Amino acid sequence: MASSDAPANPALGGKAYPIVDHTFDVVVVGAGGAGLRATVGCSQAGLRTACISKVFPTRSHTVAAQGGVAASLANMGPDNWKWHMYDTVKGSDWLGDQDAIEYLCRNAPDAVYELEHWGVPFSRTAEGKIYQRPFGGMTTDFGKGPPAQRTCAAADRTGHAMLHTLYGQALKNSTEFFIEYFAIDLIMDAEGKCRGVVCLKLDDGTIHRFRSQLVILATGGYGRAYFSATSAHTCTGDGGGMILRAGLPIQDLEFVQFHPTGIYGAGCLITEGARGEGGYLTNAKGERFMERYAPSVKDLAPRDMVSRAMTMEIREGRGVGKNADHIYLHLDHLDPAILHERLPGISESAKIFAGVDVTREPIPVLPTVHYNMGGIQTNYHGEVLTKKGDNPDVVVPGLMALGEAACVSVHGANRLGSNSLIDLVVFGRAAGLQAAEIVKPGAKQPELPANSAELALSRLDRYRHANGATPTADLRLRMQKVMQNNCAVYRTGEVLQEGCRLIHDVWSGRDDIKVTDRSLIWNSDLIETLEFDNLIVQAVVTMVGAENRKESRGAHAREDFAQRDDANWMKHTLATIDDDAKKVSIDYRPVHSYTMTDEVSYIEPKARVY
Ligand code: FUM
Repeated sequence: MASSDAPANPALGGKAYPIVDHTFDVVVVGAGGAGLRATVGCSQAGLRTACISKVFPTRSHTVAAQGGVAASLANMGPDNWKWHMYDTVKGSDWLGDQDAIEYLCRNAPDAVYELEHWGVPFSRTAEGKIYQRPFGGMTTDFGKGPPAQRTCAAADRTGHAMLHTLYGQALKNSTEFFIEYFAIDLIMDAEGKCRGVVCLKLDDGTIHRFRSQLVILATGGYGRAYFSATSAHTCTGDGGGMILRAGLPIQDLEFVQFHPTGIYGAGCLITEGARGEGGYLTNAKGERFMERYAPSVKDLAPRDMVSRAMTMEIREGRGVGKNADHIYLHLDHLDPAILHERLPGISESAKIFAGVDVTREPIPVLPTVHYNMGGIQTNYHGEVLTKKGDNPDVVVPGLMALGEAACVSVHGANRLGSNSLIDLVVFGRAAGLQAAEIVKPGAKQPELPANSAELALSRLDRYRHANGATPTADLRLRMQKVMQNNCAVYRTGEVLQEGCRLIHDVWSGRDDIKVTDRSLIWNSDLIETLEFDNLIVQAVVTMVGAENRKESRGAHAREDFAQRDDANWMKHTLATIDDDAKKVSIDYRPVHSYTMTDEVSYIEPKARVY
């Protein structure tokens, strides 16, 4: 580590920020499941690896994942990865790339056994095998058989168990952690190669410039662009913000997943595993209404369908509660011993956040923003892609993205529950394997460009001294309300056009932002402003992408274009921004209509009924 002074920079009004320099083979930004799995792989490959996180690693949002991780282990009945692949393609409403989906499902069992061997305390069957529960949209025999029990669970705290185990493995493999460091911006060189990242150390205000052969962004989703989300307050899409500022495209942001069972009012997650264990939804008439919407799988339909069904019931006056504005989730018919053993976490959440004893009363629930299907465009090795000329799949050297920050795309227009945790570990592992191929341990790295920290520091300095009239919290709330009202479960052209106008107003309002605290040490006002800056650009892209896509597919349900339109819209959205002109540009890339190997063939599109 060397210390240097940043050259006086006119862009900073002559103010220089001292910089601490670091050099690593690989820098991973984010210490959730994907970041830690990649970190372990890179470290095991003999690469000197840094893992940077704005929170303590075991507080990353993966810790909140409940129901489980999908893999066709066949512990509870017949299963196989090709059935998992079929379900994932169908779940994605044929927007997922089938080569990547094959990679995911084929490698899922090994990734789960690896976790088991590393010490994840999975729940067990009577024979001592990993316990697996049913989840929405997971079936057998290519959709023709009964629901599959494919979701491997550690009670309803699976993410917690995985995250702690992965952190232990990273420590064991001598990863160097930089904890409570906020990544401000990437360092890109003139040739478009990523050369590192610039960070602020939160507890002492020092600036750290990491030079590396490879940067891996595993920064999570941007759920906090919405008012009510199951996502942690830290889910501010920091990687997506960095990508857009670097002039790179971001893919398919219009596809936002609403989880059917957020606790009414509080928004906390009640796992889909609750329905996997036999829970069901009712309306004000006490009807199990899912029978009407998905006659074969009922409450175990995929999330987009259940969220739409709940919204319809409420709209048509059959919601529960004094305002008829939510739905009941029943677990009160289940054996209390089962609830205690398999669903202890949500039993506690229901008590704390809804005042409900799940053994006696239903839980009030409402669809709540949960997951971003879209994100940074990558291939199944984790490498970030961009479009050059007619080629949409050009690798950006030195840069990878993983997990919810990324869009591989395996989830397409709608992710199946429990396919997120498996995405983290399968592609985290893939990134480690690819890093071992393309990064040479200890290779001498060229000097960084002279202005390498300028983008990051000028942005930091601008917000630190921002002296407008609108506090960040006000702008953030406006953004969250617009997204919640204008880009919800159901969408219409009119509402989305209004949404575009309103969200652009918030984006422009950023020029009048006010930060009160000018210090650099534990300045939550400044950090929340940098986070808002990351959120707002992705909120705008989401709204513009949703207005632009004139069809219904997966989680994108347009009332004015109610059908899926494969002829015109079976393609991914690629969006870039001009942050100064406040402009979003939309381009496209084809869905990969081919598989990775000849062992499976392309799954032809058809009507998505369950
Ligand atoms: O419902 C849940 O437990 C969430 C799982 C997921 O989003 O994959």
